[in-house]
Amino acid sequence: MRIDPEIPLETLTVKAESREQYTQSSLIDRFNRRIDYLRISVTDRCDLRCVYCMSEAMQFVPRSQLLTLEELYRVGKSFVDMGVGKIRITGGEPLTRRGVMQLFESLGGLDGLRELTLTTNGTLLARHAQALKAAGVSRINISLDTLRADRFRAITRTGDIRRTLAGIDAALEAGFQRVKINAVILKNRNHDEIPQLVAFAESRGMDISFIEEMPLGVIGDHDRAEVFYSSHQVLHDLQRHYALLPTTETTGGPARYYRINDSDTRVGFISPHSHNFCEHCNRVRLTAEGRLLLCLGQEHAKDLRRVVRANPLDDEPLRQAILQAMQIKPKGHAFDITAQPVLFRHMNVTGG
Ligand code: GTP
Ligand code: 5AD
Ligand code: SF4
Repeated sequence: MRIDPEIPLETLTVKAESREQYTQSSLIDRFNRRIDYLRISVTDRCDLRCVYCMSEAMQFVPRSQLLTLEELYRVGKSFVDMGVGKIRITGGEPLTRRGVMQLFESLGGLDGLRELTLTTNGTLLARHAQALKAAGVSRINISLDTLRADRFRAITRTGDIRRTLAGIDAALEAGFQRVKINAVILKNRNHDEIPQLVAFAESRGMDISFIEEMPLGVIGDHDRAEVFYSSHQVLHDLQRHYALLPTTETTGGPARYYRINDSDTRVGFISPHSHNFCEHCNRVRLTAEGRLLLCLGQEHAKDLRRVVRANPLDDEPLRQAILQAMQIKPKGHAFDITAQPVLFRHMNVTGG
């Protein structure tokens, strides 16, 4: 795999010179894809250790290397200045980052930001759901792969399902609409719970997405090819219990959605292996250390921390760096579930 940027950044000519000159369509890559969605990972740390995401013994980034909350805000704001309308906060577990509510509040006040969303494991949501709503968060996706306490403990290595269930309740009580459950399905670990997970989502008026495991980082728990359970299989299993109608609805994310007859619940499938969606990719990711990753499944990246710190009082160099980075966004991911991982970065670095 090629890791180096394909074009040396210094050779690119970039025309926009001031904030006012950026338009809704500023961020367009070489394949004519418009980037209007930024995912910000605020920490690589997590209070769980999901077997598909992490190895048991993880080395986390030293806190001194993380972008400060103010720096995260500067990057978020610069993207919004350049036409990005959606920001999703991810991790690790974002709610474990000290002071993170301040970031939600400041981003939530940005003119031009249509959607501020969160992906979380739910363990700390009971404490924060109301404040997240007040800060302007519009949607929350919560990871839940099983409804059984023993399996939850086994899959997360450390977790207590009651905390995540309490977090889900709190999100619903706080009035969040279209709360979504994310379930990674692994053969012989939780694939027999697919209909129950849908019933759980339906009973609470939530959406649910089923996710194919992606080979990011060495995890040490299982052979990823052996436990692979495709979206096609999930759909097949579900059709024995539900009438599913394909829809063209989108949340701007990679899921393909189906509706269940007579219900408001949407069932999504995120299938990077069996249904590649790179052609329509609209997003980039910021890691907690300030690396702008142009693709989840490639290493093409631009160090924005250096630019932010070299220009503490001026965001223009940051906007220029972002504009330039669009030129190294690769065409698609390089995931291959049957091969050894080529990406040593674990999922907790970007939160998906
Ligand atoms: P919404 O559509 O806004 O609800 O969010 P989402 O489903 O895109 O985001 P979420 O953080 O809930 O991620 C769900 C799953 O989608 C995770 O496993 C992510 O890794 C995966 N995912 C999100 N974006 C991409 C992408 O660009 N490429 C790939 N391969 N997977 C992605
Ligand atoms: N493959 C697919 N999904 C993953 N997630 C974490 N690691 C992986 C992986 N290797 C999921 C989490 C969460 C979402 C952000 O990404 O379960 O729901
Ligand atoms: Fe934590 Fe999410 Fe990774 Fe699980 S998948 S260990 S909850 S970051």
